[in-house]
Amino acid sequence: DSPKGQQTKHQPQTYDSAFLKACRREAVPHTPVWFMRQAGRSLPEYLKVREGIPMLESCMRPELVTEITLQPVRRHKVDAAIYFSDIVVPLKAIGIDLDIKPGVGPVVADPIRTRADLARLRDLTPEDVHYVTEAIGMLTGELGATPLIGFAGAPFTLASYLVEGGPSRSHEHTKALMYGDPQLWADLLDRLAEITSAFLKVQIEAGASAVQLFDSWVGALAPADYRRSVMPASVKVFDAVASYGVPRIHFGVGTGELLGLMGEAGADVVGVDWRVPLDEAARRVGPGKALQGNLDPAVLFASREVVEAKTDEVLAAAKDLEGHVFNLGHGVMPAMDPDALTRLVDYVHTRTAV
Ligand code: CP3
Repeated sequence: DSPKGQQTKHQPQTYDSAFLKACRREAVPHTPVWFMRQAGRSLPEYLKVREGIPMLESCMRPELVTEITLQPVRRHKVDAAIYFSDIVVPLKAIGIDLDIKPGVGPVVADPIRTRADLARLRDLTPEDVHYVTEAIGMLTGELGATPLIGFAGAPFTLASYLVEGGPSRSHEHTKALMYGDPQLWADLLDRLAEITSAFLKVQIEAGASAVQLFDSWVGALAPADYRRSVMPASVKVFDAVASYGVPRIHFGVGTGELLGLMGEAGADVVGVDWRVPLDEAARRVGPGKALQGNLDPAVLFASREVVEAKTDEVLAAAKDLEGHVFNLGHGVMPAMDPDALTRLVDYVHTRTAV
């Protein structure tokens, strides 16, 4: 089976997009651009449609999800859309009592810390997230040739929220479990790998042209611990969706020391934060992978001249990559000027046009 044959089964009209070409390490008409967290609070039109609707509820309304996902595509002319949802949506969908608190993040009512707690993590079925299938059906019609990126939280990052009960800087309960009860930890990550795989499959089956696995907080681990205690679960997720032939992106923050292993876990594209220049990241990742990144998001708060100069640095470091998808090194921040993002997309397109 050729990868093209498999992929065109899903979204043939997106196959020749700059974004998917870059992911496949093919020649591109310009460097494609999208932004993590592009759909969200930096946009006034987002705040308007979200008024009075809690975050998790908004993720379950297909029409609203479609509108919010399209907003940054219309405004910024980015090369890909990212499905509007959150990494904790599949956990909510299987009945975990959690909420997303504004200004805080996901908060879990009863943290998962014992073997008995594991039983609460049941399998995810497509019916549990029927609104995702509905929304993606609407979206792919509206998006035409613009690819839609589906996503999920990686087992470690999901485990961190579940075990801590909320956001954490130190991940102390999570690490205590990982170091202290390796078998329970392995079983927990394996459960989460099953749920994450099922959630990504739903999105691909519905029409997503690529998927990104967010392991946002895995940079808290040393490479040996990552390899032993986390990588097997992430490998399982990437393997589970490999046969679809859609590009698989793998991203985390502060993962400079883990880039090689994160590529090895099975990604086609490795996301890089702003701490490692892309040419050095390519040496760490090795051949056969595209890279995504990596402008420091905070640069967007500086002047236009500074944004352009720092963007030039990213593009210069990326010039010999096999494939490059331009992105920020982490997500768009709520206080960012949307016009600065629109200008950045145009700047990258203009500078890299062949
Ligand atoms: O990228 C996109 O535009 C798509 C939407 C998206 C959201 N969350 C919407 C959201 C994506 C891809 C995510 C992923 C996500 N969620 C991650 C991984 C990405 C990363 O930033 O590393 C993580 C760690 C989460 C958990 C989470 N959810 C956090 C930390 C927060 C922010 C809490 C806050 O208010 O400061 C959320 C809430 C959330 N997810 C918002 C949005 C738009 C804000 C909620 C709101 O608008 O009320």
